[in-house]
Amino acid sequence: MTHFLFCVCQLGAEPAVKYELAALRPELRFAYSRPGLVTFKSPTPVAPDAPLPAVFVRAFGASLGPADSPERVFTMLAGTCPVGQPVRLHVWERDVSRPGEEPPGFRYGPRAAEARAALVAAWPEGQHPLLAGEVAEPGDRVLDVIVAEGEPWWVGYHVHGPGHSPFPGGRIAVDMPPEAPSRAYRKLEEALIWSGAPVRAGDVAVEIGSAPGGASYALLRRGVTVYGIDPALMDPVVLDYRGQPPADNRFIHLHRPMSMVQRADLPSALHWVLMDVNLAPQVALITARRLAARPRHALHGVLLTLKLDDWRAVRHVPRLLASIAAMGMEEVKATQLPSNRMELFVCGLTRAGRQRLTGH
Ligand SMILES: C[S@@+](CC[C@H](N)C(=O)[O-])C[C@H]1O[C@@H](n2cnc3c(N)ncnc32)[C@H](O)[C@@H]1O
Repeated sequence: MTHFLFCVCQLGAEPAVKYELAALRPELRFAYSRPGLVTFKSPTPVAPDAPLPAVFVRAFGASLGPADSPERVFTMLAGTCPVGQPVRLHVWERDVSRPGEEPPGFRYGPRAAEARAALVAAWPEGQHPLLAGEVAEPGDRVLDVIVAEGEPWWVGYHVHGPGHSPFPGGRIAVDMPPEAPSRAYRKLEEALIWSGAPVRAGDVAVEIGSAPGGASYALLRRGVTVYGIDPALMDPVVLDYRGQPPADNRFIHLHRPMSMVQRADLPSALHWVLMDVNLAPQVALITARRLAARPRHALHGVLLTLKLDDWRAVRHVPRLLASIAAMGMEEVKATQLPSNRMELFVCGLTRAGRQRLTGH
């Protein structure tokens, strides 16, 4: 048992994590911080299966501290995990920069793969069988090993369940096709994987702030017809896209500011409202709310990017989420995705959206 909790976040988001934790878990005391990693001390032992609904925390768990060798990691594991208990291994790299500002040629993965290989090679299979693969399943006991250049590994563990990403460190692997018009392609794919939003071929979506078209392109490739609202130019790869039957989906550009688009300019059967405009969320949400309003018989949900001026904007997050719930969403969840810069992603699902997701 340990009295420490670790939280992994975007590099630079540490103040937001401290702010959120002060509200969510006032009994915790800040203990230690590195870029993209914050630990807290608890007056009581930290349960590895305790939830933590914090928007800015990508991965969390009971914190065991630094380790400079696989043997040290296994000693820590033995102290927390009964013999014979299978273990899932998550190894990942802390952020090296803010998203999109990585050094030229840099990619996440090789350092973590090297550390993982060293751990797997020395793994005490007789004590704790190692589960194959990296994607966690509910109930898995996960050993977390966080890697950073020139530092010892940081070790923790958790039990996989609601609120935890199944992927190591919450880093979602998305391959971006070379013709994708912007990094918003990756952002939307991460958003769909993280949220599980049941977007299907044949759906109709509107995206407020669609240029140059990364997110629209991701939706088009999934068979969705997209109405894009933006006074800026769309990339030809989006404008010229023609889907395959039966969806026959395509992109329609409403080439003007969002204030000049009415609900009646969109099809009656609209399944998704997306938004990614570089405006204050309070302003942008006025249009999202208007377009998510009647007729809304087909609406399954909203997929919204909310821009933050700075980390102090964290204090507005609960109110923003409440206003999104008030758009008729039965479920609202938010996170800072690995590709989000000073922004958050929010997924809201209507009853129809939840029914499609859960099957009942
Ligand atoms: C972050 S970019 C959107 C990226 C886009 N989602 C993509 O996938 O490539 C923000 C966009 O918001 C647009 N925008 C800003 N103010 C707007 C307004 N009032 N109405 C519609 N779009 C607006 C900008 O023109 C810009 O293209």
